[in-house]
Amino acid sequence: MSQRFRVIQWATGSVGTEALKGILLDPRLELVGVKVYADAKQGVDAGSLCGMPETGIRATTSVDEIVGLDADCVSYMPNRARLEDVCALLRSGKNVVCSPFLFYGENLPEADRKRVADACAAGRASVYGTGIHPGFVGMVLPLALSGMSRTIDKVTVQERADWAFYDNPKITFENMRFGSPPEEVSLETCEFLAFNGEIFKDQIVMLARALGATLDDVALHHETRAAEESYDVICGRIEKDTVYAQRFTWKGICGGTERFVIDALWNVGGQYPTDWPKPRDGWTVTLEGEPSLQAHFISLASFENAAERSLAEHTHAADVATAMQVVNSIPALCEAEPGIRGTFELDRVYTGIGMRTVAPRFPRRPRARTGC
Ligand SMILES: NC(=O)c1ccc[n+]([C@@H]2O[C@H](COP(=O)([O-])OP(=O)(O)OC[C@H]3O[C@@H](n4cnc5c(N)ncnc54)[C@H](OP(=O)(O)O)[C@@H]3O)[C@@H](O)[C@H]2O)c1
Repeated sequence: MSQRFRVIQWATGSVGTEALKGILLDPRLELVGVKVYADAKQGVDAGSLCGMPETGIRATTSVDEIVGLDADCVSYMPNRARLEDVCALLRSGKNVVCSPFLFYGENLPEADRKRVADACAAGRASVYGTGIHPGFVGMVLPLALSGMSRTIDKVTVQERADWAFYDNPKITFENMRFGSPPEEVSLETCEFLAFNGEIFKDQIVMLARALGATLDDVALHHETRAAEESYDVICGRIEKDTVYAQRFTWKGICGGTERFVIDALWNVGGQYPTDWPKPRDGWTVTLEGEPSLQAHFISLASFENAAERSLAEHTHAADVATAMQVVNSIPALCEAEPGIRGTFELDRVYTGIGMRTVAPRFPRRPRARTGC
């Protein structure tokens, strides 16, 4: 392999740790830096952070140090995204692929969009957001299905998930506010939920652009349900009169007609509102048109040996999928034109490791710098 993209991993949480491991194993990539937040991880070898052999690359909490590194791309996975940090990386000439936001940055408020676009222009760099959803399910899969369409009337993406099985109680209870009183679980009172409302909307804006539709508007409806009794779940507790279910519905309207729908149907624990749709767990993507197409998607630790794997392993599979969708997008993003990019503007994303039997490349080979 003559070309290897020099990559920085930014944050090493549930998803970031899997991305770090993916970068170290991918023959297309070379790890050159790791940004961490926890003081305890300062100076720790990247290999130790993800259960791999020593790499000689030590993690740093310093943003300046990371921005000053020579790298082609940053795999950006903090639990709270900062536009300022992403813009600094872009201005310094690094492409950025993110899991928390910027799924289609063209949808940002005008001042923010201009900041990102200016940073991309200054650094001749590009930025792209992806993951499992937002990302693969709401952008990559509908576009892949569209390759079998003559005409498309409507695209619907349904996500049905029980957050009790998501292995990140901080995101479930603190960010998403499950388990809080209904008045605290609204787009008006919770910054993170408002942020969530925008990032999923990005997908409709991107799909409309890719499929040649002119959007009049993307409307968001948010609804919550409170528990009638208290109960325990794997990752915490839902008290009586606090929120156990949230439904976000985004509708993209074109010429007065509903052309795009993303319906996120989320609960925590055994209860589920009886008047909400109940699709299969996971993600269902439907293209109504000629012909009409539907795909259902889930990730697990194993299908063949599902019973032998723990619940934690099965739920963690979604983190691995998110991490790998980001890592596998790096070569395509590095080859893309500078700017804010959508899925339709990138080459197809493939696994870098696949079925190869890969021995980790230690010690590191001399670097082969690529111009991207
Ligand atoms: N698009 C998708 O499909 C998808 C799916 C899952 C998750 N996500 C997003 O991906 C990101 C990572 O998810 P995760 O499950 O790995 O999250 P996580 O485990 O909660 O945390 C990620 C990391 O954020 C860092 N962090 C700590 N304090 C921070 C602060 N004040 N500001 C910013 N970052 C801080 C920590 O890094 P260190 O440990 O290195 O110090 C932490 O481990 C989140 O933004 C999440 O919303 C997206």
